[in-house]
Amino acid sequence: MSDLNLDWANLKFGYMKTDYNVRCYYRNGAWGEIEMCSEETINLHMAATCLHYGQEAFEGLKAYRCKDGKIRIFRMEANAERMQSTCRGILMPELPTEKFCEMVKRVVKANERFLPPYESGASLYIRPLLIGTGAQVGVHPANEYLFIIFVTPVGPYFKGGFAANPYVVIREYDRSAPLGTGIYKVGGNYAASLLANKKAHDLGYSCEFYLDAKEKKYIDEAGAANFFGIKNNTYITPKSSSILPSITNRSLMQLAEDLGLKVERRQIPIEELETMEEAGACGTAAVISPIERIDDLEMNKSYVIAKDGKPGPISKKLYEKLRGIQYGEEPDVHNWVTVMD
Ligand code: PLP
Ligand code: COI
Repeated sequence: MSDLNLDWANLKFGYMKTDYNVRCYYRNGAWGEIEMCSEETINLHMAATCLHYGQEAFEGLKAYRCKDGKIRIFRMEANAERMQSTCRGILMPELPTEKFCEMVKRVVKANERFLPPYESGASLYIRPLLIGTGAQVGVHPANEYLFIIFVTPVGPYFKGGFAANPYVVIREYDRSAPLGTGIYKVGGNYAASLLANKKAHDLGYSCEFYLDAKEKKYIDEAGAANFFGIKNNTYITPKSSSILPSITNRSLMQLAEDLGLKVERRQIPIEELETMEEAGACGTAAVISPIERIDDLEMNKSYVIAKDGKPGPISKKLYEKLRGIQYGEEPDVHNWVTVMD
């Protein structure tokens, strides 16, 4: 249990210093030993490829303090595998799944006192990152890398947690290209989203909403979260080559199927929002964030989905099922959860 006197229930989604991070260096073609570290900073060569050519990958997952007092981590193997896919995409060495998972467990254990208490609404966000540290001036991959995992206690990503929020379609900026890096979790995609995100916030919206970059016709993503819609007892989510394969979305597709819904992964024309009974943004940070409405200002359209401003019944069921599994209160039939010793 925690000896910290924090206002857990009012934590923001932000950085807080914890006791330890965990590191592993890649040198001479091999990964080294796992090192625990209490420094928040890194000593970096000014010509490191992460600084110039964006050789940077990151991940995001969470650990939960549960009702039975245990700590549970959700689907860390899937995050390890997605990071390996990102590595293949930007020519970085892949970290083996076992090493990734071992490091996640060690850093969570070492920072146990930062795990927010059960029912505080907060959780421990785990942020792995891999950076090219070797010096290069020509555009080439580095020959040295550093993998770090830090953790930080976080509150809800969107105001109000599981409450419906308004989104705005941003047509003048693209987050990623159809054959670009949108399917990878690289820092460059997030740099490309900053202006769109600022614009959405300046206009009073929770988040920006992206259409496919090529035709501006189909739904891509909702900021740093995937999109799903519900109609006719069907869970519908975009098939696109420019969105991040969300682990939360993958889990929700499975849970929707378990609940007897049909699941469709296909292109979703923006106009189809008119027929959606419910819609949401999903991700590790966002969990499920129901969508109240999506405004397409340039087209002078407002798609109102949650007419009473409240989450719909199927979103609520999915949310409760997912949370139940994450907190060990529902059977983990798909083997998604790691219970810490
Ligand atoms: N899409 C983007 C662009 C993201 O940054 C994230 C967050 O990781 C997601 C979707 C959701 O993915 P996940 O459910 O794996 O957290
Ligand atoms: C996540 O959901 O883990 C994200 O990466 C979202 C954002 C904080 C980048």
